[in-house]
Amino acid sequence: PLVSMRQLLDHAAENGYGIPAFNVNNLEQVQAVMTAADEVGAPVILQASAGARKYAGEPFIKHLIEAAIESWPNVPLVMHQDHGQSPTVCRSAIDLGFSSVMMDGSLEADGKTIASYDYNVDVTKQVVDLAHARGVTVEGELGCLGSLETMRGDKEDGHGTESTMTREQLLTDPEQAADFVKRTQLDALAIAIGTSHGAYKFTRKPTGDILAIDRIKEIHRRIPNTHLVMHGSSSVPQDLLAEIRKYGGALKETYGVPVEEIQEAIKHGVRKINIDTDIRLAMTAAIRKFMAENPEKFDPRDYLKPAREAAKKICRERYLQFGCEGQA
Ligand code: G3H
Ligand code: 13P
Ligand code: NA
Ligand code: ZN
Repeated sequence: PLVSMRQLLDHAAENGYGIPAFNVNNLEQVQAVMTAADEVGAPVILQASAGARKYAGEPFIKHLIEAAIESWPNVPLVMHQDHGQSPTVCRSAIDLGFSSVMMDGSLEADGKTIASYDYNVDVTKQVVDLAHARGVTVEGELGCLGSLETMRGDKEDGHGTESTMTREQLLTDPEQAADFVKRTQLDALAIAIGTSHGAYKFTRKPTGDILAIDRIKEIHRRIPNTHLVMHGSSSVPQDLLAEIRKYGGALKETYGVPVEEIQEAIKHGVRKINIDTDIRLAMTAAIRKFMAENPEKFDPRDYLKPAREAAKKICRERYLQFGCEGQA
């Protein structure tokens, strides 16, 4: 059934686990996440970005998720809007039936300009007021996602600002986080700790200077009752990169967020972990391999099946690694 995200995150906090929130854009991705969750007894957060709604169209996103609820009636599922850029976007998602929305007020509505703190408080509070009146959960974001290696925002995949930032802008401040939560009354807070969206997060296996897990601990100490959210949390598995390259792909050397760092973060209040890139990599690796090995095939089902299976495998791994098994 469709459940509220607040309910799932509260349960995760009480029982000390984290829930991967997977981005979905199409039928195969929805089926992959649901099958994995059903196999291990995990609760599900399906999230759709603006890009997803543009790709599939709003009715398709809505009905794909409704089809998941109908097909897996026993799996608790949250339909979450990822990175809402304005209260208007969040309102339309709520009207569409989403049970949770993210108001990303770290940037202005153009998605590029770094927002002032007061702007962020204002738009997030507006969304909390309209969402809570309708039983919808709200995620906000404080601090700008971006690389502590290059001091740049994560423009890579079309998100965020490319401007150069200070270390302070790239790391959520615990005192400001406490004030933000108090003033907005949001349910979950996305924090900036050096991760960024897309495949190119780190030029080397990250250490504490470029992936600030310690900052999570400080924030959690200051606001222990607020559910924390990690964006840009794909692990970018080296074996998937190798597979993609082996079959003609041209991905450069890159490193993601190690699973063991996410597991540490889960011990310190992180309850929602956003993952999109790993599913993209898994599907691409499977399709490239299939195409290379079966040049005579042309039925999309033939290559989408192994792609769906590869996506399922990565989702299943994350559910198990984050402690979701049997929590649904
Ligand atoms: O917010 C980041 C997710 O990876 C969604 O990406 O905007 O390309 O759908 P997208
Ligand atoms: P990745 O690009 O690391 O998968 O992050 C996805 C995300 O944060 C979606 O909001
Ligand atoms: Na990026
Ligand atoms: Zn994100």
